[in-house]
Amino acid sequence: MELSGNTILITGGTSGIGLAFAVAFMKAGSTVIICGRREDRLEQIKREYPSVVIRRCDVTDDRQRTELAEWVVSAYPDMNILMNNAGIQLPADLTKPTDVGSLREEVETNFIAPVHLGSLLAPHLATKEKAAIINITSGLAFVPLAFMPVYCATKAALHSLTLSLRYQMRHTNVKVFEVAPPSTDTELGHQRRADKTQSHGGMPLADFITEAMEALRDDMLEAPIAQSKGLRAKGEQLFGMLNPE
Ligand SMILES: NC(=O)c1ccc[n+]([C@@H]2O[C@H](COP(=O)([O-])OP(=O)(O)OC[C@H]3O[C@@H](n4cnc5c(N)ncnc54)[C@H](OP(=O)(O)O)[C@@H]3O)[C@@H](O)[C@H]2O)c1
Repeated sequence: MELSGNTILITGGTSGIGLAFAVAFMKAGSTVIICGRREDRLEQIKREYPSVVIRRCDVTDDRQRTELAEWVVSAYPDMNILMNNAGIQLPADLTKPTDVGSLREEVETNFIAPVHLGSLLAPHLATKEKAAIINITSGLAFVPLAFMPVYCATKAALHSLTLSLRYQMRHTNVKVFEVAPPSTDTELGHQRRADKTQSHGGMPLADFITEAMEALRDDMLEAPIAQSKGLRAKGEQLFGMLNPE
């Protein structure tokens, strides 16, 4: 895809991978709209990058998703790329009764929101000469880390969904991408870390973004990045390596 001249809506642009994509697309010459729940973060990012467009939205709320889609089409009719990036990662011990509230929040954020938002914006995107939907999955879509079983299952579901959506959109100009990050150093999973300043670890964010932007530029519709390539290739054969006894 062309990295310049786009108008791109990125969900979950207040930190980590979403923010790094936002900065990279702005640097490449695209207009970027980010959304998230944390208003202070949105305003701080706006001060740092005055050209970014900010919008508060909780993607777990289907009314807010619908309002976001209607607003973006009317305020930014040139919008031609949706990046479904917002995500959360929660541990879950399924040997005990699980907290259904956390279960719903994780599934709604990581799976229902991207499916719904994509379908709301697909008719608009299909009117564009060049358009894309980019779903951010994970290397863990291909082989789960068993202590975060719901997270991994939502990513596997979004991987499958992306294949079907790509097929359904095949007669349009909308390219459907999947970017599967490896473990990357962001705030993801901070809920489970006792020390909130502790790093997630994994690939440096700058290295991830360089490789991911190259994959998008090269029209790699399914783009497992770095370690995720091995997880994609070997899938569940690696279950024992990720989940030792
Ligand atoms: N980091 C990794 O190792 C890794 C690996 C594979 C895949 N990924 C995927 O990459 C994506 C980005 O994660 P990240 O690593 O950059 O983590 P992050 O730094 O925690 O960022 C998550 C983003 O999602 C937003 N978000 C979460 N819940 C939301 C909601 N209900 N409504 C709107 N926005 C919401 C957050 O914004 P607010 O808090 O402001 O709402 C934040 O901007 C996720 O889909 C994640 O699963 C990450």
